Amino acid sequence: MAIWNRKNTETATPLLDARRAGTEPTNAQWQQAAKDNMFLQFTRHSSFYTAKGEIPIITHADGHHFWDQHGKKYFDGISSLFAVNAGHGRHKLAEAAAKQMKELDYFPLWSHAHKPGIELSERLLSYAPKNLTRVFFTTGGGEANETAWKLAKQYFKMQGKPMKHKVLTRSVAYHGTSHGALSMTGIPAMKKAFEPLVPSTFRVPNTNWYRAQDDFATEEEFALWAADRIEEMILFEDPDTVAAFFMEPVQNSGGCFTAPKVYFDRVREICDKYDVLLVADETIDAFGRTGAMFASNLYGFEPDMLVCAKGMTSAYAPLGALLLAEKLFEPFKHGTNIFPHGYTYSGHPVSCAVALANLDIFDEEDLVGNVQRNQAAFKSTLEKLKDLPIVGDVRGIGYFWAVELVKNKETKETFTDKESEKLLHGILSQRMFEEGLFCRSDDRGDPVVQFAPPLTIGPDQFNEIEQILRGALVHAMKHM
Ligand SMILES: Cc1ncc(COP(=O)(O)O)c(C=O)c1O
Repeated sequence: MAIWNRKNTETATPLLDARRAGTEPTNAQWQQAAKDNMFLQFTRHSSFYTAKGEIPIITHADGHHFWDQHGKKYFDGISSLFAVNAGHGRHKLAEAAAKQMKELDYFPLWSHAHKPGIELSERLLSYAPKNLTRVFFTTGGGEANETAWKLAKQYFKMQGKPMKHKVLTRSVAYHGTSHGALSMTGIPAMKKAFEPLVPSTFRVPNTNWYRAQDDFATEEEFALWAADRIEEMILFEDPDTVAAFFMEPVQNSGGCFTAPKVYFDRVREICDKYDVLLVADETIDAFGRTGAMFASNLYGFEPDMLVCAKGMTSAYAPLGALLLAEKLFEPFKHGTNIFPHGYTYSGHPVSCAVALANLDIFDEEDLVGNVQRNQAAFKSTLEKLKDLPIVGDVRGIGYFWAVELVKNKETKETFTDKESEKLLHGILSQRMFEEGLFCRSDDRGDPVVQFAPPLTIGPDQFNEIEQILRGALVHAMKHM
């Protein structure tokens, strides 16, 4: 269907025409304008969610639900993009944004500061591991990873170690889309179209315990083996050339890979031994997702830098941050030294004001406590799905869970790429969307369905998720 081709340039401005005529555009006009003018992100423009060949146009949202242009209601099982942690429709955040816009609409954090930025820096550090003492704002997670790598390179140059520039990251991990952040990403299929990327990034194993169980007696033993691969890679590459190791404490891509505390202790030990900076990418993990404000605290380790974004404002306004240890700021206290890096909208005052109001909601409603109290119930509800032959593993922590789908439960045989494509994109995503459940079907590693709902929900909603997913999986088993 050549649905995306502009066919009739005379009617190419349906929305403008309707507005000029003083009328509300119709649903059909919204569809046409979207199809004629937009280039969506990470989107297969040749196929659609809806059977009618329509783009799902989302019009409003409240709590853990959103609605499309036909008034159909959906359960937001993934906090839209692992981001709307406090849930939708928070008027308090809209009011904070409006108040800030009236007071100081915008000013850059270039040689100046503003009060929302100052207050948010203090607030973020109050939750963070105690060794982190400075905040560098960005507008999202990828930019903060990019910033961390650049800062690591400059820091080591200033330490008289100019060759320390390489970074290690974990397989299947996603760290963003700019050239640097994409280079760190461990998903070859995402990088292929953009190669050659920034040189000097190397992959080590992630902590996918489900796929390692047959080779190790305990998860701790496996985790220590995985951590030791970092030391091995540092030695392979020469410690004098390695600047940093980036990891998500709980890795999203591949499906919520957790690790026992011994892993983080060993990683810290290895990084210290070779003067390699440890960067925790908590773009998704932070702000309650794992049952703590920061997952680094949950696992009791101190990264040299910590990346966060998404849940900081519950996605009501774009904002990211790099939290860093004082030693990384130290060289910039002297003489004419500067870190020549930043973005126009880094630490936008409106975003900072929204973040502060969002963190107030976290405190007032004890959202992190809600996750801690309910995470076991979420886990056991999803684990009921293990009675289905297609469900191989249920893993995660907090309000961050993945259900891995397998072809053969006994042997853990996974689906081929073609089968996985049919299962996830051809059947499951569509079915769940039709059934009103928005979640993530992901095949960047083995096929998984992921949940990261707003932190406000409880056991009734876990049951609703389980029931809809169960129905969709039974349907998928029949049609595979
Ligand atoms: C772990 C991780 N790092 C980085 C990013 C990139 O963040 P952004 O899209 O805000 O640049 C993401 C996005 O989902 C992520 O999950």
